[in-house]
Amino acid sequence: MVKAYDGAPIFSGFSLNVEKGDVIAVLGPSGCGKSTMLRCINGLEKIQGGDILLNGESVVKEEKDMPGVRKKIGMVFQSYELFGHMTVLDNLTLGPVKAKGEDKAEAEKRALALLDRVGLKDKAQSFPRNLSGGQQQRVAILRAMLMDPEIFLFDEVTAALDPEMVQEVLSLVGELAKEGKTMLIVTHEMEFARKVANRILFMEEGHIIEDTGPEEFFEHPTTERSRRFLEGLHYN
Ligand SMILES: Nc1ncnc2c1ncn2[C@@H]1O[C@H](COP(=O)(O)OP(=O)(O)O)[C@@H](O)[C@H]1O
Ligand SMILES: [Mg+2]
Repeated sequence: MVKAYDGAPIFSGFSLNVEKGDVIAVLGPSGCGKSTMLRCINGLEKIQGGDILLNGESVVKEEKDMPGVRKKIGMVFQSYELFGHMTVLDNLTLGPVKAKGEDKAEAEKRALALLDRVGLKDKAQSFPRNLSGGQQQRVAILRAMLMDPEIFLFDEVTAALDPEMVQEVLSLVGELAKEGKTMLIVTHEMEFARKVANRILFMEEGHIIEDTGPEEFFEHPTTERSRRFLEGLHYN
């Protein structure tokens, strides 16, 4: 694909093939295009060339068809985007009921089961402001899960959290990975990336510099740039 912001090229001939069940950690310095890539994939950003296919179906075709394909892509951002005027339960059932036409009682049953699974069942009738950042972010992930997407896109979902809340959110993402869900995870949590991902994508200036297994990437980075990146993080 080709992507530019107001004529400033970000991607010129960017290509990525994601297989079902891939858990891909996307790493790279700030500004290299990680968020832009995810936003292009779920149609939040227009691309100027190429195509993005989900199971052979274009994500970038005419606007009117967008919601159909987009329902199959679950994205969670750095800042929890829950609706503040709605209860946790209503936040969770909105998508399934409105976008997928699911029966409200059925959606609530599924939502409560997921809340129970992450220990937040007692928060069902609370409003987001009464939840901690880590709790809100887990609800945001549950909201994406309730749509049964084909692929999850996580953009630095723990970056805005206090350190003590990072693990509870990462462990939920890790569980999804173990279940075989397909996902692209932009993260700065290197231990986590190494543990859950089967592929590490290292990007710089709109290019994929490395696309390799976690062991190879962290133990034997093949490029000078990825070595410098890891050294900068004091990882190696
Ligand atoms: N809405 C926007 N308008 C113009 N330029 C943007 C916009 N969003 C991002 N950019 C630019 O695109 C590049 C990639 O940004 P981004 O995808 O946010 O990087 P990352 O997520 O890797 O930090 C940066 O140079 C950034 O300044
Ligand atoms: Mg970003």
